[in-house]
Amino acid sequence: MSPTASAAPRLHVISGKGGTGKTTVAAAMAMALAGEGQRVLLCEVEGRQGISQAFDVPRLGEEETKVARGLGGGEVVGLSVDAKAALMEYLQLFYKLGRAGGLLERFGVVDFATTIAPGVRDVLLIGKVYEAVGRTPGKKRGDTYDAVVLDAPPTGRIGRFLNVNHEVADLAKVGPVRQQADSITELLRSPQTVVHLVTLLEEMPVQETLEAVEQIGDLGMRVGSIVVNQVRESPLSDAALAQLDDLDPAPLEAHLGEAGLRVGPVLVDGLVQAGRDLGARVALETEERGALSAVGLPTYDLPLLPQGLDAGGLRELATALHDQGAV
Ligand SMILES: Nc1ncnc2c1ncn2[C@@H]1O[C@H](COP(=O)(O)OP(=O)(O)OP(=O)(O)O)[C@@H](O)[C@H]1O
Ligand SMILES: [Mg+2]
Repeated sequence: MSPTASAAPRLHVISGKGGTGKTTVAAAMAMALAGEGQRVLLCEVEGRQGISQAFDVPRLGEEETKVARGLGGGEVVGLSVDAKAALMEYLQLFYKLGRAGGLLERFGVVDFATTIAPGVRDVLLIGKVYEAVGRTPGKKRGDTYDAVVLDAPPTGRIGRFLNVNHEVADLAKVGPVRQQADSITELLRSPQTVVHLVTLLEEMPVQETLEAVEQIGDLGMRVGSIVVNQVRESPLSDAALAQLDDLDPAPLEAHLGEAGLRVGPVLVDGLVQAGRDLGARVALETEERGALSAVGLPTYDLPLLPQGLDAGGLRELATALHDQGAV
């Protein structure tokens, strides 16, 4: 596959601060991408079983397994990429090792590569994703994908994770590992790959997002969008919130009494305080939104689902991404 074969990104890498909703957004994006007759691969690389949990299906292994129907009727296929399995597959592919692969495993070589040398581990993990993106149609029916979504490590580790060339520089100057790292880097830097950063409208996640935008740019890669997750609509307008600043609770108590609501001063004070807290939160969110919009990237909002994440909830988020033109 040539990196310029298609202008549309085929590999969507999802990162963001821990706990902001990377796995959820990756799942929703895969659903949104799976239009009629299409197949989308959703990969995780940290062995956390986040995909199977999000879709409420049995644990995923090395087998690519259908986990959901996409919005447009296509298929979402899940894969939990395991470094050890990726290494064995890689050795078979390049060296036709046959049973010798098992010997390597017994001698601890596999453990060395997959747990002790983190750079090699990352090359193996992204290598598997790279292999899936690069599959050419025709070889094995039903084995190719229209898009691949990667639930990637958090922003704190994303720079290292994606900088595979640097990671293997000391370990492999020439040879197949080096070549593999070069090919992966070429794909990551091509227009076929975009990174999406998930954030909440809070200080730390936004800060990490802004840092990640820079880091990813420095790596020669593209940030496709910022996804603001768990957006809450304010129940009060900005004008109403502004009024709360110098509101005298006493007349409010009287007004509520006139409306037939018997409320004591404690409750009224509590209400006013809750309103002011809301105002403070909205002000902070507005500030964070300003900081995000300053980077000038496409930004999409996903609502906070009050009922949490069930199958309907994921579909709702996928629809929101689709309707905003995120995919
Ligand atoms: N829009 C949303 N509405 C309601 N709940 C949400 C939403 N997005 C995510 N969640 C919930 O928030 C929690 C964290 O989400 P998720 O696991 O996707 O985050 P993550 O960034 O992948 O976390 P980690 O860094 O641990 O991998 C989960 O319980 C998820 O169900
Ligand atoms: Mg996750």
